[in-house]
Amino acid sequence: MTFEGIDGSGKSTQSRLLAGHLEAAGHDVVLTREPGGSLGAEDIRRLLVEGDPGRWSAETEILLFTAARRDHLERLITPALKAGKIVICDRFADSTRVYQGATRGDLRQIVDALHSQMIGIEPDLTLVIDMDPDIALERGLARGSGEDRFEDFGAEFQHKLRDGFLALTKDYPDRTQLIDGTKGAQDVAHTIAAVVDSFLAARS
Ligand code: TYD
Repeated sequence: MTFEGIDGSGKSTQSRLLAGHLEAAGHDVVLTREPGGSLGAEDIRRLLVEGDPGRWSAETEILLFTAARRDHLERLITPALKAGKIVICDRFADSTRVYQGATRGDLRQIVDALHSQMIGIEPDLTLVIDMDPDIALERGLARGSGEDRFEDFGAEFQHKLRDGFLALTKDYPDRTQLIDGTKGAQDVAHTIAAVVDSFLAARS
């Protein structure tokens, strides 16, 4: 399962809380993130999240994110799924669909073509955390992580991203669930735990 949403929407906190919730219920959980999640992909991550916003074109980004994802898939995700573990990934291909595919030109077809050739799997469940971009941007920049290349595209970009993620839930209604991220972290975590518990119960 994956978490998606704009920068600063609380995905990382929520993915950690969900991993804890599922582990407490006795599940074998692998918590990971993109870009990154494997050694090679973490190297590529640094190229992507640091530096000047104009450092890469959207097309080059698609190739880099997909290269990182392919390494992550080969080395971590596929083996974990084969071993029967629940993989929780903080961002996955939907981020490429929205960030590179929809906000900086209409590149969605390239994203989808490359995805089907090189990645070829979709998450069973995608939790899209929705919130006001202005609040999220403040939270994101307040962290001062040095990984602000995408936040540095500015507020208008974040508004486009939000629209992109909302559209995504309409494109993939079967596997996506929209979560209101404006409440406190514990409230949001409760909502997510309930959604995931009923998803898992329905599958078993
Ligand atoms: P992330 O570490 O999730 O940042 P944050 O915790 O601030 O949300 O992701 C780093 C940046 O990379 C983020 O701004 C979103 C962007 N990104 C893409 O543009 N395309 C992608 O395919 C992925 C996975 C991330």
